[in-house]
Amino acid sequence: MPLPTPPLAPTTVVGAHNYPDDLVAAIVRATEAAASACLPLVGSGDKNGVDELAVAAMRDALGRAPFDGTVVIGEGEKDEAPMLANGERLGTGAGPVCDVAVDPLDGTRLAAENLPGAVAVIALAPRGSMFDPRDVFYMQKLIAGAAAVGVLDVLASATQNATRLADALGKPIDDLVVGVLDKPRHASVVAELRGLGVRVHLVGEGDVSIAIAAATPGSGIDAVMGTGGTPEGIIAACAVRSLGGFMQGRLDPQSESQRAAAIAAGHDLHRVFTLDELVGSDRVLFVSTPVT
Ligand code: FBP
Repeated sequence: MPLPTPPLAPTTVVGAHNYPDDLVAAIVRATEAAASACLPLVGSGDKNGVDELAVAAMRDALGRAPFDGTVVIGEGEKDEAPMLANGERLGTGAGPVCDVAVDPLDGTRLAAENLPGAVAVIALAPRGSMFDPRDVFYMQKLIAGAAAVGVLDVLASATQNATRLADALGKPIDDLVVGVLDKPRHASVVAELRGLGVRVHLVGEGDVSIAIAAATPGSGIDAVMGTGGTPEGIIAACAVRSLGGFMQGRLDPQSESQRAAAIAAGHDLHRVFTLDELVGSDRVLFVSTPVT
């Protein structure tokens, strides 16, 4: 028996001034359509089922949006979940020519288990401006608000970055809150941060939500550290860019085969990507509707 469907929480729109009103409204309709479509399966335990509902609704709504969009950041490849495919053309063909980053349901398991933090998100930027990570599924991310610009470095240790950020924000280290995905790969970062007195905000899934929070002053999360999905990294970069925050990323394959594939594809795994390299334009629109 599906849960009763509550009204959707409000949609966040950043960068609306960058695109025509009718396109912004259509993108909002698309995240809201995805979020409402999957509500009947929230809490059902059916990860793929809930994701499929969100994908189908978002694809249908984006097909009617007044723009010429190409999906650069689809989602689902790393776990073979349903997805809007990279290269897929979206929209009516009339209007702005855009790169599109979509995650119809970020935090699929959260939605399937009715835990908080799942969102439906779309980002637009001018055609050719989003970094296309192709086949490298994981990225190390360091995200914070504007105070971190010129202060943090994804190659520095968690201790160095937490200390520098607390100084830049003018707060005691034990008031600093850092969001981290709760994964075994982050055990040492979490231990290091807790050893300093930093408060760690752990989430089981869904690092787009904590990325937005980290770039939003006063949200209660000062930074995000650790490795998550690369597509979610580019989506986060669009949000962070439109919020005026700080972000760096480094491709971070999680197995020997992923590593070999990334190197064979010509990626430099030591390269630090700045926010401007992750999304090379200020003309970004970011829209997110909470699902749970
Ligand atoms: P999905 O909802 O698409 O499964 O992504 C959830 C997520 O937690 C992302 O927010 C995050 O970037 C990524 O998965 C981390 O991947 P993994 O769970 O494999 O470490």
